[in-house]
Amino acid sequence: MTRLYKNIFILTGAGISAESGLSTFRSENGLWNNHRVEDVATIEAYYRNQDFVHQFYNDMRPELFAAKPNPAHLAITKLQKEYPADNISVVTQNVDTLHEKAGNNNVYHIHGQINQIVCMHCGHVFETWGDITSEDSCPKCGTTAMLKPNIVFFGESLLYMDVVDRLLSKCDLFISVGTSGVIYPAAGFVQIAKAYGADTFEFNMETTSNNYLFDKHIYGPAGTTLPQFVDELIKAAK
Ligand code: APR
Repeated sequence: MTRLYKNIFILTGAGISAESGLSTFRSENGLWNNHRVEDVATIEAYYRNQDFVHQFYNDMRPELFAAKPNPAHLAITKLQKEYPADNISVVTQNVDTLHEKAGNNNVYHIHGQINQIVCMHCGHVFETWGDITSEDSCPKCGTTAMLKPNIVFFGESLLYMDVVDRLLSKCDLFISVGTSGVIYPAAGFVQIAKAYGADTFEFNMETTSNNYLFDKHIYGPAGTTLPQFVDELIKAAK
């Protein structure tokens, strides 16, 4: 790693939060907190049974509120503080707020955030860690039964894609941490980064669906491997 990187793009997935005790999506039984994704993370499910979907996220909020960042999240803060790049951004598929709790800057939640609610009538987004039901109304427009967790459901467009496109076009180092690489468009970001000449590193416990697109693979728990990698990057820049 003798190259001095100027623009670092860090893509994270559920695996970076695993050592904080949060479940990943594609565990053995393929369920997300014991629910099929189709039943709780599609716009059809939301319109079919709004309160069932609300309850799934209401149940999740306390756990995510209490979760603590692990050394992988903290390593990103260290990199942002000590590595002489022009920009180090975190594009996360996670809806938890562990990157922010760890002190990471430039964090973009392309799949949304568990502590945000969006009004499907006026588009207003507000924050809460509490429960939401179909009886609640929008604090801005007052419309009832049109509030939805600000989480990108299957069938909806991702958030911050204009920022992602700009960051990918400039990045010279692309790091993927804890994502299975099966959900697009995020799984395709590495290919775009490569096309722009970036070095690409993948941090995971095992080989992934798109591992052939990465220059280097660093296997093991991110809470161990990422801090080591960050220390080596910082040392090489001195
Ligand atoms: N360190 C590094 N990697 C880990 C760790 C760990 N401690 N624990 C698990 N992993 C890896 C797993 O091997 C797996 O490849 O993290 C990955 C988690 O994959 P998924 O559960 O598929 O989660 P993710 O890739 O974030 O899913 C992407 O799919 O369901 C949608 O919107 C949802 O954002 C989610 C998207």
